[in-house]
Amino acid sequence: MRLVLVGPPGAGKGTQAQFIAEHASVPKISTGDIFRANVSKGTPLGVQAKAYMDRGDLVPDDVTIEMVKLRLRENDASPGFLLDGFPRTVPQAEVLDDVLRESGTKLDVVLELVVDDDEVIRRLSGRRTCRTCNHIWHVDFDPPEVPGVCDIDDGELFQRDDDQAETIANRLTVYAGSTAPLVAYYASRGVLVGIDATGPVDDVTLRAIDALRSFGDG
Ligand code: AP5
Ligand code: MG
Repeated sequence: MRLVLVGPPGAGKGTQAQFIAEHASVPKISTGDIFRANVSKGTPLGVQAKAYMDRGDLVPDDVTIEMVKLRLRENDASPGFLLDGFPRTVPQAEVLDDVLRESGTKLDVVLELVVDDDEVIRRLSGRRTCRTCNHIWHVDFDPPEVPGVCDIDDGELFQRDDDQAETIANRLTVYAGSTAPLVAYYASRGVLVGIDATGPVDDVTLRAIDALRSFGDG
């Protein structure tokens, strides 16, 4: 299955991606995670991306597209994939369509996670991420047993640099201007399904898996 998750910052894309990818037996490809890994290693890509990420702006399309093309060429992505955070602009979506067409495939489904801005702010201001396994926690909504420590591998939890109030506000503006148009783009191609992404994480996962069934999975 070839699947894209779309939704505003804090909608729960990363949280749901791990469950859905497992359910569909496909690799989860998160552009935000790839950029953050490059930032922490100090690679040229990371240095280039960091300034944009810190402001809550999008990394330029040419850089992002090249990175995703390389990732999609890896063997594990050939039977299918779940993309979290890509595409985020119409030009990115057009390139993805071209790349898939060239390999004789296409997207099966684009799952939109729908939440409002107030919920986004509550979620992002309490988010914590594991430095080693990238598992996503929330200090109130999904707290680890020991504050600051990942239940899964005892890794240190950190707060993302772009989860400051001003940066969150800019990310929401950027989403509305650059990414929200993808909803219409994919709806017109008949691959879009939207779900209510509020309520407990497990309920959202069930809604997501249910929605995917109508597109031939499960
Ligand atoms: P990216 O990492 O993709 O950030 P984002 O889209 O802003 O989304 P987030 O990761 O903040 O939110 P999420 O939807 O994954 O929510 P999460 O599951 O963590 O991108 C970061 C930056 O990289 C961009 O700003 C840009 O600069 C750059 N970039 C990345 N891709 C790019 C691209 N394609 N083009 C250009 N630039 C790109 O959940 C949030 C919190 O809510 C967590 O604490 C979680 O525990 C909690 N939560 C989740 N579900 C629930 C629930 N049901 N109830 C209560 N709490 C919940
Ligand atoms: Mg994420």
